[in-house]
Amino acid sequence: MTDFISPAWQQHASLLLGLAGLAIVAYVYSILSAPLAKIPGPWHSLFTGQLIKIYGLQGKRTRYVHSLHQKYGPVVRLSPREVDVTDLPSVKEIHAVKATYTKSPHFYHALRAPGTENVFSTTDVFFHRRHRKLLQGPFSESSLKTLQPIIEARVNMAIDRMAEEMKTRQVADVFKWWLFMATDVIGELTFGESFRMLELGKKNEYSLNLEQAAAVGAKRTAFPLLARLASAGLPIPGFGDSTRLIRNNEKFATESLQRYRKLVRENPDQPINTLFKKVFKGEQQEELTLRELIDSAQVYIIAGSDTTALALTYLVWQVCCSPEIRDRLVQELQQVPDEYHDDDLQHLAYLQQVIEETLRVYSPAPSALPRIVPQGGSTLAGQYLPGGAIVSTQAFSLHRNPDIFPDPDTFDPDRWAHPTKAMKDSMMPFGGGSRICMGLHLARIELRLGIARFFRAFPHAKVSTREGFSDQDMVQMLFFLGPPKGKRCLIECA
Ligand code: HEM
Repeated sequence: MTDFISPAWQQHASLLLGLAGLAIVAYVYSILSAPLAKIPGPWHSLFTGQLIKIYGLQGKRTRYVHSLHQKYGPVVRLSPREVDVTDLPSVKEIHAVKATYTKSPHFYHALRAPGTENVFSTTDVFFHRRHRKLLQGPFSESSLKTLQPIIEARVNMAIDRMAEEMKTRQVADVFKWWLFMATDVIGELTFGESFRMLELGKKNEYSLNLEQAAAVGAKRTAFPLLARLASAGLPIPGFGDSTRLIRNNEKFATESLQRYRKLVRENPDQPINTLFKKVFKGEQQEELTLRELIDSAQVYIIAGSDTTALALTYLVWQVCCSPEIRDRLVQELQQVPDEYHDDDLQHLAYLQQVIEETLRVYSPAPSALPRIVPQGGSTLAGQYLPGGAIVSTQAFSLHRNPDIFPDPDTFDPDRWAHPTKAMKDSMMPFGGGSRICMGLHLARIELRLGIARFFRAFPHAKVSTREGFSDQDMVQMLFFLGPPKGKRCLIECA
């Protein structure tokens, strides 16, 4: 064969082959000498993060990362640029009040509407500090007391609607009703009027939009560049819808807030009690612009609805799976007076234990919270990470350390009777440090009231097998949020 190729061409071919060989050697050398190369992890993560992206799209990333920790230890490499960490002191350093590890823009910017910035997705420390300072007052435990009648009314309505459904359908889909309740609560606390999903018994256009936008969140965070191009108006297949949905939500939030602000201005003596009351009344020293409020309102609705509904759903399901746990909880709840409020529930030890165990095993936000290693790099659990690397932590793994939570997959509220410091330190259902959940007190009020009202109304509640419902429906899908696979949770009263 070589007889047919001229010597000059043979020389060229050998030169090209030699150059290609050199390029490959240089590439492999650069990969192997990169700072993250020394971190334990699967071989392919040295070269690419595509596998982890695909797992992310399928809702399998979090369990895969957990399996890597079981194999490689507390710091594992996920891609040439990203590691995941479970070592507690390192997790505390990453999620500290002093925000040296900022949110990763690749991930969080893909979640926001194009051209906007908000308290949840911002990666700018100064923007975050200012917004958090201006927004967080109404979320404190004491300020929330004035909003409790609104929450109680919605919880009561949810229980009534479940009771009606149990009569007509023999089961109540508690996932549906908790979602309607949590969305109506946060809608009313944000816009001054409820979405009326509990009254209607079905989702409205806004919530359907929200649901779909959340579903494409995984795609947007896995392929942030495509998401950005789609947001800029380019026809990227599979991304057009998500951009349209985000814009629709923005339009709805704008109209609702403008309506609310108009009402406040027209009736200054009849303030509508919401999380924005002080801002609209001008009582705050430095007001947020309407644009900033719209962005915050959208975050509240997204962050405050599914999360709370998921915690309530998994709690009811797990407690109904175990008559012993249910009867103990019911017995404790019967101690409170007939006319009770959240204050009466806060000291109920077993209720707190059941809530804590639900947030541990079925964290509504179980997956990676990616952060950027500060300039100059850092050493976490003995491993050097260069500045700019992405370092993630996931509640799913932090809550399943068998040295801290023996038999970690078992739902056992008793483990919270005398929690160790390590148990408390490991719990991150609400994130941590400067970016800890702003709505955690609100969520806890909804959880306490929702659970107390539910088990007092339905003390014999049990998991249904009607309509083909099974444990398979409740397998948690681990995206950024962790919804049940079957998108339903059917409970009946014996
Ligand atoms: C059980 C219910 C809830 C859970 C498990 C939960 C979980 C979380 C987590 C894990 C974070 C941190 C995310 C990150 O670091 O990327 C977060 C942030 C946040 N959550 Fe929640 N959340 C819940 C309910 C709520 C509610 C009811 C609201 C009400 C508006 C809310 C508003 C927020 C906001 C505004 C942030 C951003 C805080 C910041 O970056 O400063 N959350 N939440």
